Amino acid sequence: MDRDRVVLLEASGEKHLVVLDREVVNVPGVGVVRADSVRAALGRRWSVGGRSFLVLKPSMRDTVGALRRQAQIVGPKDAASLVWNCDLKAGDYVVEVGAGSGALTLVLAQAVGPDGHVVTYDVRPDFLDVARANVSDAGLARRVEFKLGDVRSGIAETNADAFVVDIPDPWEAVGTAAKALAPCGHFASYSPNVEQVNRTVAALRAGTFVELRTVEIIEREIEASESGTHPSFAPLGHTGYLTFARAVLETL
Ligand SMILES: C[S@@+](CC[C@H](N)C(=O)[O-])C[C@H]1O[C@@H](n2cnc3c(N)ncnc32)[C@H](O)[C@@H]1O
Repeated sequence: MDRDRVVLLEASGEKHLVVLDREVVNVPGVGVVRADSVRAALGRRWSVGGRSFLVLKPSMRDTVGALRRQAQIVGPKDAASLVWNCDLKAGDYVVEVGAGSGALTLVLAQAVGPDGHVVTYDVRPDFLDVARANVSDAGLARRVEFKLGDVRSGIAETNADAFVVDIPDPWEAVGTAAKALAPCGHFASYSPNVEQVNRTVAALRAGTFVELRTVEIIEREIEASESGTHPSFAPLGHTGYLTFARAVLETL
């Protein structure tokens, strides 16, 4: 069940994600307000103390934007590609390695729906705590299991539909992925550096994986205005490479 949350959007574009979990809630920078009055203004302007906000339903972009962060997170363009390329759908069973801040965990949990399940591993208990809190705040805790463990030592899960890796040495996870994935299950790894891609691809080629593919997703924002529409002048920053493969029982 999704939690009762809203986003307060200011005219400046600044957003505040507010959890309406009590009758009276404290909105940072605004003060104490009645949750009912905010809830009733969904999609409308809501004013308090001389300030006006638009009350919006939070999107996944808002949720991830407001996360407590420990490690570098997987951003929207890469997360969307991971979901599509792993063919994630309602009811899927996903193993994730490298929970980090839980940003990707949230997206995976949303994709698998209420009947799906995500098991996410991390070697750092403090990172798992942050990821767990972020997933719980988003109301998705029932879909996610958090496990402390090093993927290189093997894991108990089997028959997974997808195995998604974001750790510094993803090639070390390939053997574990082969055992955890169902036949035809999807492997995906996210890596900032080409050297990581090379080693991961080599490990996949040495195993029973097919349909290997590596992509970099480049998203270019377009600034549209009455005076002229053009690509944003902000530089295109690099995030990471995505490597995909499918696990099979035999190769040709
Ligand atoms: C870059 S972060 C992952 C960020 C995450 N994808 C997100 O979107 O928030 C990498 C995480 O992998 C964990 N990690 C590194 N090596 C690992 C291993 N062998 N097994 C499990 N977790 C590992 C680290 O502790 C760290 O939290």
